[in-house]
Amino acid sequence: MKAVVPGSFDPFTLGHLDIVERASRLFDQVVVAVGLNSAKDYLFPLEERVELVRASCRQLAAVTVEPMPGLLVDFCLAHDVGTIVKGARLGRDFEVELGMAQMNASLTAVETVILPTRPSWSFVSSSLVRQIARGQRDISPYVPAAVVDHLQRSRHVHSD
Ligand code: PNS
Repeated sequence: MKAVVPGSFDPFTLGHLDIVERASRLFDQVVVAVGLNSAKDYLFPLEERVELVRASCRQLAAVTVEPMPGLLVDFCLAHDVGTIVKGARLGRDFEVELGMAQMNASLTAVETVILPTRPSWSFVSSSLVRQIARGQRDISPYVPAAVVDHLQRSRHVHSD
């Protein structure tokens, strides 16, 4: 069976990687869909987020990574996927995920499986990582090495 793990991944964190790894043990194939949430102001553009997720998931043979410029349900139809996998850390995540799961299920017959975040990553979010990065602090305990390298390179480009 095939599943999609969607998200903004701005940036992709070790908590996200853990969800993708666990999804790849539950499903034969996993497509990571790097999407756009109109309520968010992104640190990295879509193409860069896709490349960073690809670099971070390179060792996972059953995982592919694709951009998702439109709706998640249309991505599922285009990729012939019937299951969405999302991670949730706190109670409020479950509320948000419930609303999206119900909306997606009402648009098509797609099911959503929510995996509880591992306790070691429960305090890690992309929005906190963005704040730490903007404050010039080390983000390497929270994100894959590819994200750390990309941030360092983009800082060099902007300071040139
Ligand atoms: O990491 P995020 O920001 O929680 O991910 C949210 C995302 C990208 C999965 C969600 O906004 C999404 O599915 N975007 C695609 C557009 C869409 O289908 N919106 C309706 C969701 S019910």
